Amino acid sequence: MAKAPGTKTKSKSSQSVPPRPRTAIAVVIMAAGKGTRLKSKHPKVLHEVGGKPILAHVIATAEKVVPARDVFVIIGHEAERVREAMRTTGVNFVLQAEQRGTGHALMVAREALSGYDQIIVLYGDAPLITAETIRRVSEFHAAQKATMTLLSADLENPYGYGRVIRKGARGSAEVQAIVEEKSATAQQKKNREINSGVYAFDGPALYQNIDRLSTANPHGEYYLTDMAAVFHRAHKKVVAIKTADAGEVLGTNTRAEMMMLDARLRLAKCRELLEQGVTIFYPHTCVIDSDVEVGADTIIEPFVQLLGKTKVGADCRIRSYSVIGNSILGDGVTVRPGTIMEDSRIGAGAVLGPYSHLRPGSEVGEGAHVGNFVETKKIKLGKGSKANHLTYLGDAEIGEGVNIGAGTITCNYDGVNKHQTVIEDGVFVGSDSTLVAPVKIGRGAYIAAASCITEDVPADALAFGRARQSVKEGWARQQREKRKQR
Ligand code: UD1
Ligand code: CA
Repeated sequence: MAKAPGTKTKSKSSQSVPPRPRTAIAVVIMAAGKGTRLKSKHPKVLHEVGGKPILAHVIATAEKVVPARDVFVIIGHEAERVREAMRTTGVNFVLQAEQRGTGHALMVAREALSGYDQIIVLYGDAPLITAETIRRVSEFHAAQKATMTLLSADLENPYGYGRVIRKGARGSAEVQAIVEEKSATAQQKKNREINSGVYAFDGPALYQNIDRLSTANPHGEYYLTDMAAVFHRAHKKVVAIKTADAGEVLGTNTRAEMMMLDARLRLAKCRELLEQGVTIFYPHTCVIDSDVEVGADTIIEPFVQLLGKTKVGADCRIRSYSVIGNSILGDGVTVRPGTIMEDSRIGAGAVLGPYSHLRPGSEVGEGAHVGNFVETKKIKLGKGSKANHLTYLGDAEIGEGVNIGAGTITCNYDGVNKHQTVIEDGVFVGSDSTLVAPVKIGRGAYIAAASCITEDVPADALAFGRARQSVKEGWARQQREKRKQR
């Protein structure tokens, strides 16, 4: 990017101040569990909500709080699949080969986390948590000089969550214990203040005391939540801070919970786009993934899907039933109903559909048209070129101002190999032509309708590739008369 004149890359001060000693903070994300309640062969944290894996949301949020090198993901169940899926994020992985509970997960990470003053814990199955909330927990923890700080929330239906048992008077920040659903008394189950699974720990204190956890509970696991009682007994300060938005701590233990979070994320995405000047009719019918970008004054009609890393420019209109994945659309593009597009690039002002199928590698130039029942794959269609009806264009380089008639086919496959078709600027391809690749049509040439073109056509030539028409005068009448005589 160009720099403003006079801007220096670094300000080199001669009397530089020594760096202030700061707290080293690590974020740990627990993602080793199986997710038994989902009844799935896939690891829980790789299930998708809002168009990407649950764990990818948590990692992205963690990276807003600390750099990737200070993020540690605990993996176990299907560890290699999880590691592979998250490899590009640059975070660290710690293997918990046997999953003996959330407390055990942190025991396994002891070595990786030694040297951090503060350890923030997130659960890999709760994707809505925000960076602001994590920072609030971290700062509250520091301000309170606490040993353990947990984020709590008041839930309408607290069933299944650990309950926060506060110390003494109501309104006290201090916590005595966290009681899991299965171990809670009837009285404790009425408590709607739940443990979210977001914590800040004093690093050294955590590892001096973590071996005091036991497995004396209904699951026979080391519960990280029991650290509250462990610290409380050791007269160390445990505090809770309540989230303002109980929605952000929701977990995904069941498919139903997962789909609720998916709907929430997508509506939130629509709201964000509306905020940025995009019109979305009936937003609850649209499926827009978290990483999608859309420019202002673009109109999105009902039942549109914008998926993956799709970027749509400004002033576009995306009409109903279009499904657009990982594609880049310039400004002022019109996508008519029912257009399917994957890994494609569309120039400004282009018009697509209805019912066009743009397969990976389709590059449509500025102001070009791709019409109904046209399929494209690995092609370049130049500026202002038109393929409006019933056509297959694959492995082709098509110049500017080209007209591709209805029913044109690039015969790109000989049963073994794929071959290239080149159509230069200003070519006119008549309807129902078959272009047998490899073949090249020179600049400004004409292809007569219904031609089968097997040889290169020079620039400005006219090529016919069809049988000459013959006419038998009176033939039809004679046939009719013969039939009558029988
Ligand atoms: C946990 C908390 C509960 C809290 C709830 C919030 C405990 C004991 N309970 O319950 O207080 O209200 O989360 O959602 O912590 N995991 C590992 N290794 C293990 C076990 C679990 O990495 O050995 C991971 C899981 O993959 C998951 C997370 O830890 O991402 C939480 O485990 P889960 O079994 O879902 O705990 P909950 O029963 O939901
Ligand atoms: Ca959970």
